[in-house]
Amino acid sequence: MVEPTKTKVAPADGKLGILIPGIGAVATTFIAGVELVKQGLAQPVGSLTQLATIRLGKRTDGKSPYIRDFVPLTKLNDLVFGGWDIYEDNAYQAASNARVLEQAQLDSVKGPLEAIQPMKAVFDHSYVRRIDGPNVKKGANKRDLAGQLMEDIRQFKQKNGCSRLAMIWCGSTEVYKKPAAVHQSLDAFEKGLETNDPEIAPSQIYAYAALQSGVPFANGAPNLTHDIPALLDLARDLNLPVCGKDFKTGQTFMKTLVAPGLKSRMLGVHGWFSTNILGNRDGEVLDDPDAFKTKEETKLSVLDQILQPDLYPDLYKNLFHSVRINYYPPRGDSKEGWDNIDIFGWLGYPMQIKIDFLCRDSILAAPIVLDLVLFLDLAHRAGLRGIQEWLSFYFKAPMTAPGLYPEHDIFIQLMKLKNRLRHLMGEELITHLGLEYYD
Ligand SMILES: NC(=O)c1ccc[n+]([C@@H]2O[C@H](COP(=O)([O-])OP(=O)(O)OC[C@H]3O[C@@H](n4cnc5c(N)ncnc54)[C@H](O)[C@@H]3O)[C@@H](O)[C@H]2O)c1
Repeated sequence: MVEPTKTKVAPADGKLGILIPGIGAVATTFIAGVELVKQGLAQPVGSLTQLATIRLGKRTDGKSPYIRDFVPLTKLNDLVFGGWDIYEDNAYQAASNARVLEQAQLDSVKGPLEAIQPMKAVFDHSYVRRIDGPNVKKGANKRDLAGQLMEDIRQFKQKNGCSRLAMIWCGSTEVYKKPAAVHQSLDAFEKGLETNDPEIAPSQIYAYAALQSGVPFANGAPNLTHDIPALLDLARDLNLPVCGKDFKTGQTFMKTLVAPGLKSRMLGVHGWFSTNILGNRDGEVLDDPDAFKTKEETKLSVLDQILQPDLYPDLYKNLFHSVRINYYPPRGDSKEGWDNIDIFGWLGYPMQIKIDFLCRDSILAAPIVLDLVLFLDLAHRAGLRGIQEWLSFYFKAPMTAPGLYPEHDIFIQLMKLKNRLRHLMGEELITHLGLEYYD
């Protein structure tokens, strides 16, 4: 039994600066959305920090405050935004190019969006091969580039009068990489920065610069980034919370809703075929097989970890799982994801489920970005450090302690998230045992 004890959480005073490598579709939809909500022009649909409640005590107590009233979160009015991109477009131009939000809606927040001019990026074409841009830093080596990012961070904080910062990677998906020798310790990593080790990705230089500047870091893409001993040790040593990887939106979100349901009723699955069409820049980058491989790894692992074929060989051992992403420009950000699921029931009789999800990627991702930066900042003020497993709820490939398999079932993830907040505030955890109602 976990005894309730209240953690000391520093108040959310002053401004929180949100720093974003990658001012593309997701980042601009997030920023424009926050500005629209601040002005009372739209609702923050999809955000737990803005809309969800949390039950405290017994079901009969009738106590369900909003999460935002229960834990001390930064108010939207106290958020300021900045970031880096390889293109020179300001956030208004980038949002207009992304064509996620309607132009008239964007125009009503044109002022604050135009004010966000991306800083020069740390970029390496061999990591993101389908795009190239002029707004890129030059440096003697990767250590020099990391130093330039740290200087950007320092200046941003000072110029905007921020009391705290959080960084979230919304940049393109980098090519697939496995952890190498240079990732195994901070010492090796710092030597690698000095010697320009090709195994150090741009996203890793951002993560290093954030952590060395005392800034918590989240990764919205499936890249390896800070999921390596060198950077995880650094985060722990500097008492910084981190989380990742790959925002759980679209098809994988659907998968983590349906698969736990099938398994909970002990229904078998022969095959799961998933295919997508999308036409935004993310789709273009993922058209490169090596970038897609990074995505595929996170998308494929989900079913295995939810269905546990080792524990249930009769139901899931021979499951054939395939995931495709097809770049199809006419659709822009409005993706279509099809799932064909071949299941079987009592005595092995086959059935099929078809899902056709006409979703909007960035509309699903934007509230996740908002919740992650607010919760990461909360974790920082509460003195939580290292991987924040309770934020798994938001990710396709949740980071975990070494040797621990990730929890993918979204309902368990939600319980974990809410219990973490209850624990933080010294409230009793909710186990859903419910015996007290029947004594
Ligand atoms: N939208 C979703 O539902 C969703 C879900 C999961 C993950 N993601 C991931 O989020 C990321 C952003 O998605 P998006 O739709 O906004 O893509 P996007 O292509 O619109 O934006 C990415 C931006 O990152 C910039 N960039 C690339 N490398 C950079 C670097 N080294 N430094 C600074 N900027 C860099 C690109 O120029 C581009 O403007 C992608 O990696 C995507 O795979 C998105």
